[in-house]
Amino acid sequence: MSSTPAILIYGDPVLRRRADDVTAIDGNLVSLAEDMLTVMYGEPGIGLAATQVGVEKRLFVYDVGDGPKAVVNPTITERDGLWLYAEGCLSLPGLFWDVIRPKEVLLTGWDLNEQPIEVEADELLARLFQHELDHLDGVLLIDHLEAEQRERALGLFEAISTGAGTLMAAGEHSEHSEHRKHSERSERSKDSEHSKHREHSDG
Ligand code: NI
Repeated sequence: MSSTPAILIYGDPVLRRRADDVTAIDGNLVSLAEDMLTVMYGEPGIGLAATQVGVEKRLFVYDVGDGPKAVVNPTITERDGLWLYAEGCLSLPGLFWDVIRPKEVLLTGWDLNEQPIEVEADELLARLFQHELDHLDGVLLIDHLEAEQRERALGLFEAISTGAGTLMAAGEHSEHSEHRKHSERSERSKDSEHSKHREHSDG
């Protein structure tokens, strides 16, 4: 790709589609992964699924602090325990919700060198894998909320999207004051503080 792709935001129908299996790990796929990493590093996120840049292929990238990684045709084969975590999504920017999901997962897939990979993940990394795999299945973070909470969340999202509800959103999620501060800062100084709060959105 010659230009950096944009992240699709909630409401875009592509985010609701199941991505197709990758049939060839070739130069195009490697370029796509590189573009996705560029986009991800430009945002407060630690993971990004191809679906989020409008490409319906089963590929996601991530970096939890030990360098960029890409996973092709990922599958979660084992899940264990439960873990509560305030999860965010770059397609629902600025919002975080406490969501319980399995604490540990075993992820299998392929890397960009066509080698099989198997990663035992716990807590944050396990959460990231589940979040990105959801994206590839057309599932979004808000689908994990209770109906009433989801309705409120979508109202907030709409308010924020129209530029009217930032403070309301902040009040709504006062229990996540740490995240709120980061979100607000990300709005105000997009270029200066990425590295400090990249960990605050799962992608
Ligand atoms: Ni996401």
